[in-house]
Order: sequence, then C-alpha cells, then structure tokens
Amino acid sequence: MCGIVAYIGPKEAYPILIKGLQRLEYRGYDSAGVALANGQLMVYKKKGKVQELIDFAEELPKSSTVGIGHTRWATHGVPNDVNAHPHTSGNSQLTIVHNGIIENYALLKEALEKEGHVFTSDTDTEVLIHFIEEIQEKDQLPLEEAVRIALTRVVGAYAIVVLDKRNPNKLVAARKASPLVVGIGEGEYFLASDATPMIEYTNKVIYINDNEIVSIDRYNGIQVKTVNNEVQTPTIHEIDMKIENLEKGGYDYFMLKEIYEQPKTISDCMRGRLNKEDGWIHLGGLEEYSNRIVNAQRFIIAACGTSWHAGLIGEYLFEELARIPVEVEYASELRYRNPIITDKDVIIAISQSGETADTLAALELSRERGALNYGIVNSVGSSIARMTDAGSYIHAGPEIGVASTKAFTGQVTLLTMMALSIGHKRGTISESQYRQYITELANIPAKVEEVLKTNDHIKYIAAEIQDKPNALYLGRGYNFPVALEGALKLKEISYIHAEGYPAAEMKHGPIALIDEEMPVIVIATNKSAYEKVLSNIQEVKARKGYVIAIVTKGDSEISQVADATIEIPETMEPFTPLLSVIPLQLLSYHIAIMRECNVDQPRNLAKSVTVE
Ligand code: AGP
Repeated sequence: MCGIVAYIGPKEAYPILIKGLQRLEYRGYDSAGVALANGQLMVYKKKGKVQELIDFAEELPKSSTVGIGHTRWATHGVPNDVNAHPHTSGNSQLTIVHNGIIENYALLKEALEKEGHVFTSDTDTEVLIHFIEEIQEKDQLPLEEAVRIALTRVVGAYAIVVLDKRNPNKLVAARKASPLVVGIGEGEYFLASDATPMIEYTNKVIYINDNEIVSIDRYNGIQVKTVNNEVQTPTIHEIDMKIENLEKGGYDYFMLKEIYEQPKTISDCMRGRLNKEDGWIHLGGLEEYSNRIVNAQRFIIAACGTSWHAGLIGEYLFEELARIPVEVEYASELRYRNPIITDKDVIIAISQSGETADTLAALELSRERGALNYGIVNSVGSSIARMTDAGSYIHAGPEIGVASTKAFTGQVTLLTMMALSIGHKRGTISESQYRQYITELANIPAKVEEVLKTNDHIKYIAAEIQDKPNALYLGRGYNFPVALEGALKLKEISYIHAEGYPAAEMKHGPIALIDEEMPVIVIATNKSAYEKVLSNIQEVKARKGYVIAIVTKGDSEISQVADATIEIPETMEPFTPLLSVIPLQLLSYHIAIMRECNVDQPRNLAKSVTVE
C-alpha cells in the first residue's frame, strides 16, 4: 500500500531516493517524504505526489549519503503533511518510514504518553518510532537492538527502515507481512518495497523474510537476524528485471503500454511451457506435485480483485477441461469464515503482486489445514511466491498501472495451460482435443494483436458513453467473469459506477435499471448461448438501453440489434476471455482519459494491497 526506499553508500542519497519513490509511486500516492542525515537530520515531506515533494525541497539543503524515503497510501490519519512519512522520535534523533499497520498502536501510544511522549500526527508509525526511542534511551541500546526489542512487542504488519541522526553509517530495517528487498551494490546498499528502485544500480537482491531484521553498516556490510535474535544467512538472488520495463516507452500511460504488451506477455507466459509443433504443455510447478494436483478432490482458488476474476475463469476451465470441482473464494472471506479445507484440497492463490495481505493470510490458513498451496504470481520473489509449495510465474514483467491488464491475461493463460495439462493427464480431454487446444492457444497472441487494431473504433464508442454515471456489463459462461472484470476496470479508473452480471440474471433485478441513460456492454461471443444472449440484448433494447456488443468477427445478427459492436476474432470458447477482455480494457482506458482521470494512479487506490 505504501512504498519505502532507502540508500546508504558513497553517492548523494537524495536523487536516488526521489527516483526510487517515483518508481514506487504506483504503490500509493497520498503523500511523500524523505529523511537525510549528515550531522543534522533533514526531513522533508508533503501531501500529494512525489512531484510536490520535489518542488518543496528544491531549495532546501539535501546533501547526504544516507537517507530514507516513503510514498504513502493512508491507513491511519488523513493524507496531509503532518501524517506523511518519515516520522521522527520525540528526541528528534531517530526517523522511520513504514509500510503496514501497527494494530496495537493505541495501547503503545497511551503508555508512551504517560512517559511524557508528545505526538504530532495521527499515525501508528509515529508511535512506533517513539517506542523504539523509549527502548533505546532506557538502556542506551544500539539501534538494531532497540528496534528488535520494540518489534517483539508490536502486533501488526510492517516493513520499516530506521535511521539514527547520530550514526549516519547505519540503516536498520525489518519486515513482517509487508515486502522488503535489499539491493547490494558496489560499496552501497539499497532497501525498498520491491526491486524497481534499485535495478539500475544492481541486480543482486536479498528478499527479507517475515520477522527478520536487517542492519546495514556502510563499512561492515549486512547482518540479518530474527526478531528472536537468531543470526540468519541471507540468500543473494540475481534478478533479470530490465529498466525499460519501468519506463512508459512512448505511451502516455503505463496502463496503455501494458494493454499493448499483451500479445508479448501472453507469448512469454507460454514460452518453454507450450509446444505447438510437438503438442505438449509442461509446467514445472505442476510436475513437482503432479500426483497430488491431478488427483485433488477439489481446487480452491483464493484471490482478490482482478485476480479473483481470473480465478472465476479458472473455475470454468478446470471444471470443463479437467473435471475437477473448483470453489473460487475472495481471499478476505476465506481467511475468516473457518472454511472446510483438507489435505485432499489444492489451494491456488492468484496474485499479480504476490503481496496481497488477504491472499497471503488465506494461504497461511490453508497451510495449517494441510492443503497443497499453489501460487500463480507475477512478481518474482514476492511473499506468495516464496510461501507456496509450488507455483508458476506468469512472466508479464512489472505491472505499473494500478488497473491490472497484462497480469490478468497472463493469469488466465497460465490457468488455461494448467487446465489443459491436468485434463490431458486425467484423460478428460482426448489427445486430438489436446492438440487442437494447444494449436489454438498458440494463436491467441496474434489474435490479441488483431483486437488491438480496433482501438480507434473503441475510442469512438468510448466517447458515446464517457459521461454516463453508470454502466452494466453482461456476459455468459466464460464471459461472465470478463463482464465483472470490464466493470471493475471502468470503476477503478473512470470512477463511473459499473456492475458486471451474468446476462441471464439481468431479468432478476438489474433490468429495472435499464433506460436510455444506462449503457449496457454485452459480451456476446458465445457459440453455446448465442441465441440467449441475443434475447438479453433485445430485452435491453426494448427498454431503450444503449447496447455495446462484443461480437465474433463476421457476426450478422447481434450487430443488427446493438447500437455499437466491437469484433474479436473467432476462437475456441475456453479461450474467449483472452480476447473479449481487450476491448473492455481499452474502453475503460479511453473513457478515463476523456474524463481526465489519472489512469495509472486512480484516486484512493494503490497497486498492491498489503494491508487488510
Ligand atoms: C485490479 O485492476 C486492481 N488493481 C485490484 O483489484 C487487484 O487486482 C487486487 O488488489 C489484487 O491484487 P494482486 O493480484 O496483486 O493480489
């Protein structure tokens, strides 16, 4: 939800921190701040985006070779200058940046106030730095020990970096349930919520685990301990993230770039896993636990948001192609409803960021109950990727736009390959069907390319409905989850209220909403329910609704009835979502631009929901 970044080394810290915050801004953008130390502590923080901070600090002293930075998505306290991070201790010696929530902060605050501490902000983070100060001052402890003891008494989630004005040669960091990565450069070190701020300086990283504390000394290097004071030997990973993945590459927004990357990202997801010529699918993660997965009594798919929509498509895929019963759960519901989970179940966690708190918690629950945990994740080395028994990366590359697009089609591609592979192993699809599916799946990237060519036409349609206050998305079968996804895209970047519904369900209530002010986007590519969807469209038209239909290329019937149509190429029904979602992504993008919304950083949202 927030982004944290830190630097210690021979270079000027400020420009590194600012660039790092700009790379992390997709994680939260209510306010931003930095703290620098060189004998004095310079703390600059402003409400708003990182640019506000840059403008504010332009003329201020900033020279230092150590510093911490933060970009915020508010949990406690409204977004303003005072509540912005970094926060400082009462003695003005310590400063902290924090991503997460300290759940017992109120009790700690009450106890600290009794000791005379005075607080200036409404945040839980300020309480934490005062608590660390209290512990340090009481026994004159080294910073890392004071942090460690404090964290033994803290309840909640955190990724923190702490800097002591009196010792600018050291940074102390720690994590529990919020991500934290250490970058190891040449005589310099980086800390951040993910690897994006550091990859132009180093590709050597350490992923900090829960309950670990990192102490970085610019001369003596890194030491990792647990909160229980056990020294750890960290593993250094080499990442292959490329800097151009983090640039807009000539597009106005990351979201548009990521929409257009989908032919490539879907290909990348299949690379080395699907072979059209020899007719095979091979997923390493699946092979490792093949027996348990192929013979599972049930799949439970746990996810949030767009990933949950991908999970719904997964349900249709697994049940049709592999004949395995599937339940799709909102992770936030699954984790609290005391579900029945056994060791015969396989839990599939789907997450782009790999850091979504509710999905992580659902995995912890399923692990306690003996199920096999399988992860479908985009962010390499993320918490979910490291916590699951097995899994598959979707290889979509960093997804910066808050509205998920290429990650969704990557997740659906992966689920499709899984369902085909498991169906083939279980004999629920024949060899010839398997070959047909593989051949057609291999053609999908080219067909996505074809849909992208209708962008101008979609932009024209967007103009027709961009000022409507509501919208209804309808779909059947595989396209019902796509209707939900289209509605979410529109909601989250254009702020238009939109709902997705099974097309047949419209008659059970939503049809009351239909009038000339209600645009209805109908995904009408189904072969299996074509006539029924046509009837649904006629029911909408009979009530003066404005119908935009996503149809299969060459459609002649629905195109006569709908007010506007967008064509997608013919494909096998299970693969329809990979094509029918593209026009909905572009439609929401153009409407948001016409409404002058910030497409990449929509209000109130953040890219990775690492708090409950
Ligand atoms: C989708 O456009 C949203 N950004 C949001 O719903 C997102 O899909 C959800 O928060 C889940 O995130 P994850 O895939 O990283 O777990």
